Amino acid sequence: MRVTMIGTGYVGLVSGACFADFGHIVTCVDKDASKIERLQKGEIPIFEPGLDELVKDNVEQGRLFFTADASDAVRDADAVFIAVGTPSRRGDGHADLSYVYAAAEEIAGLIQGYTVIVNKSTVPVGTGDEVEAIIKKVRPDADFAVVSNPEFLREGAAINDFKRPDRVVVGTDDERARERMRELYRPLFLNETPIIFTARRTSELIKYAANAFLAMKITFINEIADLSEEVGANVQEVARGIGLDNRIGRKFLNAGPGYGGSCFPKDTLALMKTARDAGAPIELIETTVRVNKARKQKMAQKIVDALDGNLKGKTIAILGLTFKPNTDDMRDAPALDIVPTLQAEGAKVRAFDPEGMTEAKHMLKDVQFATGPYDCADGADAVVIITEWDQFRALDFKRLKQALKAPVVIDLRNIYSPAEMRAHGFTYVSVGRA
Ligand SMILES: NC(=O)c1ccc[n+]([C@@H]2O[C@H](COP(=O)([O-])OP(=O)(O)OC[C@H]3O[C@@H](n4cnc5c(N)ncnc54)[C@H](O)[C@@H]3O)[C@@H](O)[C@H]2O)c1
Repeated sequence: MRVTMIGTGYVGLVSGACFADFGHIVTCVDKDASKIERLQKGEIPIFEPGLDELVKDNVEQGRLFFTADASDAVRDADAVFIAVGTPSRRGDGHADLSYVYAAAEEIAGLIQGYTVIVNKSTVPVGTGDEVEAIIKKVRPDADFAVVSNPEFLREGAAINDFKRPDRVVVGTDDERARERMRELYRPLFLNETPIIFTARRTSELIKYAANAFLAMKITFINEIADLSEEVGANVQEVARGIGLDNRIGRKFLNAGPGYGGSCFPKDTLALMKTARDAGAPIELIETTVRVNKARKQKMAQKIVDALDGNLKGKTIAILGLTFKPNTDDMRDAPALDIVPTLQAEGAKVRAFDPEGMTEAKHMLKDVQFATGPYDCADGADAVVIITEWDQFRALDFKRLKQALKAPVVIDLRNIYSPAEMRAHGFTYVSVGRA
């Protein structure tokens, strides 16, 4: 099949490369010409484990192409995916659908023959109807169907998530479109991946309900962590104790600095808005959003408290800036709230992140960027672990202690054991472990 991806970001590039690897002929389109130029030269514009190899292989096999001009790619396509951004709209938190609608207009002018237009971007309920209306208006003659096919991949594990997903969700009432989607995902059928065919609006809601539920789960364990600190319990053991119950499940029960990233913050907000507009507010999610926002400040306060309430003239070493390990994505990362708060309290901030620093340099002011964890800790009054990159999980304690001015470690991801850290002579503060 011939597949065209409109939008070659985290989702478009990974999905495009994976569809090519399934054997389809894929063209990834992006209006950012510099991104396309880099891809054409064999450079991968994002950090995602395994993606460089996958792209290279499929380009060499003649199945994966990149272009800034959608014309030919859309005209010849059996399926055109919309994988553009849907950020929060400034001011009101609704999903900004301007990129989706612009893509729909562009596609409308180009399609030839029966074409399936697939919305992979995360979009509020009813967006598929709007995309269909746009295309009909521009091209009353066109033969097409608009399908919802939300993406559930996680950055950092995106290729595996795409190729071995827990499920694929396809929302359409059009039988021809359903057949085409079945054909596209055929390799997953062979792996017995559940494919859920549903109505378009239901499919759109599934994506938001999934992300909101996960955000709520994280926020729940974060509040249990706060309670654990007050009552002398250990949140990691509580998480294990509840997580082994299959009805609850063990994943997403790691207490930490609050959820961030390119999806949960904007998707919880957008769901909240959709629900209010529909007259069916989801108060659990409204509370989740409020609690998670406050959490970043709470974490900054934890750091201030660990330094006797005074950061003036002190240097804080930050390990990890991205919203999670194995990505360079800095969108809505907790560090973006925590670092400026520490600076406002008078601290000097030095930071190190294995992949996120290029992006972070545009987003954080007056931060000194280090070349590695020990360089970062050199002469600092405390180390704060914000992102649990593997390379921070086995630090050389002796070297770290020698580098630091004072042996204070604030671990917002609970990657070390309090007893072990104390035994090594550190003042160690973590989350939810009294
Ligand atoms: N990043 C994730 O982990 C993830 C996971 C699941 C779903 N999603 C959803 O997928 C969508 C895309 O997310 P992303 O992280 O890949 O975004 P992104 O910002 O990384 O990529 C979007 C790309 O689309 C391009 N673009 C915008 N308008 C275009 C147009 N008209 N023609 C061609 N290119 C255009 C942009 O230049 C950009 O490169 C969002 O709705 C997001 O919520 C993201």
